[in-house]
Amino acid sequence: MTDPRPDRRQFLKWLGTGLGLVALAEVVWVALSFLRPRRLAAGAGATLHVCGPASDFAAGSVTAFPAGKFYLARLEDGGFLALFRECTHLGCTLPWSAAEDRFVCPCHASTFDITGQVLGPPAPRPLDLFAVRIENGIVKVDTRRRLRRSEFRPEQVVRS
Ligand code: FES
Repeated sequence: MTDPRPDRRQFLKWLGTGLGLVALAEVVWVALSFLRPRRLAAGAGATLHVCGPASDFAAGSVTAFPAGKFYLARLEDGGFLALFRECTHLGCTLPWSAAEDRFVCPCHASTFDITGQVLGPPAPRPLDLFAVRIENGIVKVDTRRRLRRSEFRPEQVVRS
């Protein structure tokens, strides 16, 4: 006559199989989560940034657009430049210092003027630019491509 109680060895075998399946399901879930595209926060990942009416930006002003990682600079003559906010030395994020009227890198003290030109080293070149366009008086910045430049030239400035 056989014992009606489940065999201890058989029970452990089922338990091991069950735990193995749970572990496998977790691995599959983690792998699928990794492969699935992430949802971006509002504004993040956008490539065309609508900055607002040109008249909202005073001459000589610098306005940060953190979602696009750029500053919109309005020069004294009314022209616009969209400056990538990373220092061209080692990529630190640059703050604009209104008091000093320049960008001052917190990492190694490079400085840049409102057009992005290097005022003080070690930065090797001017700040990169994004394309600016003005449509019906509205300033828009396209952050799909960054323009790397070796010098500031007046034709880089966009005027309405
Ligand atoms: S990263 Fe800006 S000066 Fe070095």
